[in-house]
Amino acid sequence: MSPDRPLILVSNRGPATFEYDDEGRLHARRSTGGLVTALTGLVHHRDALWIASAMSDADVQASREHGGRAFECEVDEVRYRMRLVESDAEAYNQFYNVVANPLLWFIQHYLWDLSNAPDIRREEVAAYEDGYRAVNEDLARAVLDELETDDAVVMLHDYHLYCAPQVIRESRPDVFLHHFIHIPWTQPDAWRVLPSDIREDIYEGLLANDIVGFHTRAYRSNFLLCCRELFGLQVDEEAGIVHHDGRDVWVRHYPLPISAESFHRTAQRPSVHEYEREILRRRREHLILRVDRADLSKNVLRGFSAFDLFLEQHEEFRERVTFVAQLMPSRQDVPEYAEYIEKIEALVAVVNHRHGTTDWMPVDLKLEENLERAIAAYKHYDLLIVNAMFDGMNLVAKEGPLVNERHGVSLLSENTGAHEELGEFSLSVNPFDVQEQADAIYRALTMSSDERSWRAEGLKKIISSRDPGDWVDDQMRDIEAKRSGARLGPGGVAAQV
Ligand code: F6P
Repeated sequence: MSPDRPLILVSNRGPATFEYDDEGRLHARRSTGGLVTALTGLVHHRDALWIASAMSDADVQASREHGGRAFECEVDEVRYRMRLVESDAEAYNQFYNVVANPLLWFIQHYLWDLSNAPDIRREEVAAYEDGYRAVNEDLARAVLDELETDDAVVMLHDYHLYCAPQVIRESRPDVFLHHFIHIPWTQPDAWRVLPSDIREDIYEGLLANDIVGFHTRAYRSNFLLCCRELFGLQVDEEAGIVHHDGRDVWVRHYPLPISAESFHRTAQRPSVHEYEREILRRRREHLILRVDRADLSKNVLRGFSAFDLFLEQHEEFRERVTFVAQLMPSRQDVPEYAEYIEKIEALVAVVNHRHGTTDWMPVDLKLEENLERAIAAYKHYDLLIVNAMFDGMNLVAKEGPLVNERHGVSLLSENTGAHEELGEFSLSVNPFDVQEQADAIYRALTMSSDERSWRAEGLKKIISSRDPGDWVDDQMRDIEAKRSGARLGPGGVAAQV
């Protein structure tokens, strides 16, 4: 894409989160999560305006201080041009805590226990209409307000914004709309949970884009299948095209890399070294690590059950291994998430009680968000556990092996996006098979050093072979190709016509 073409990024969570300090003054810190990491990589490579929701009172104040317009903000040495969009507080609550999480998030990670939930009543439908749609319309209006030229590209991100593209398209048929989904796309039946008019509204919204992107080939196939099976649309599976409303929508996959360079830089911060010293002082012979958001999709409970089983079946490892679990609480206004933390704490207490001794606590649970401590632990694990039930990509699976210094082994769920790239050098597991995970723990901790180093080197090589610049370039190339009238050939390769 021509670097001069104006680029607008749109996501629910923006690059900076505003907070009040002790004196009640506003200050910004870099937001966390895979999406922000990905788009920060993008901003490094292209000048862009980033439009996002004002998610908290402090964000709202920051937005108001700039009259709701775009402003510049520097965090962690990155300069962002951003615009925070304020929505009605109750509408935002319905949008975030009822529809996006859990309704859509659970559909897209197969998390609903369908014999029990969800119950869709008038309240949920109203939350969709007055919350989800309303917030999408607010963000879409901000985009329309910022669109000055007709050669602009708008890149929308994730499951929060499925309705926004259609709202933008209605006013500006000329604008190029690109939408990247950071989470899995599930198979058609998972979507049948939604009332048919909401389901249709979501797909209509998404199909107003010119290109829809996913992390993996599998999610791309599922999306195409959904378009055909749920709505009878004409789909060219091989080329990855949905014909809809007289338009062609390209459906592509672009696996997200991490920036090895900036991650290595962060890993050299003095505070990381300080945490390392603490970890080394306390470590036993073997260190098992997991770092996650405390999200149901991450499968934290089965990870602890597998460790429990491993200790039961291999008594010789007692007092020789510690499982450090650093989990960041998130979405605590959603009851399922608050209960999940309680379940995690309860299970950790059981495992520690069952196996622990007076001077050994098998599971060291840290409920906190602390990037520096996580990186310090990445450097020294012997086994990294990423056993998500379903996960769009999972950047921990890339960050850990990149900086690990002990030829640590990766236990990796076959249902993560990262598995498409890293499966060969990981111990692949079925995330529901607790015995298989217990066996994988044993295998990792008893593996020969030759095999460990072969696996670790293989992972490092793949992870550092691409960076976010390549991810951006691949997408921009397709944007440019589609704008200039190219068609996708077999396998989704752009061919000029
Ligand atoms: O794509 C999923 C995602 O948006 C990631 O950015 C991140 O892992 C997570 O969800 C963050 O969720 P939230 O913005 O609700 O904290």
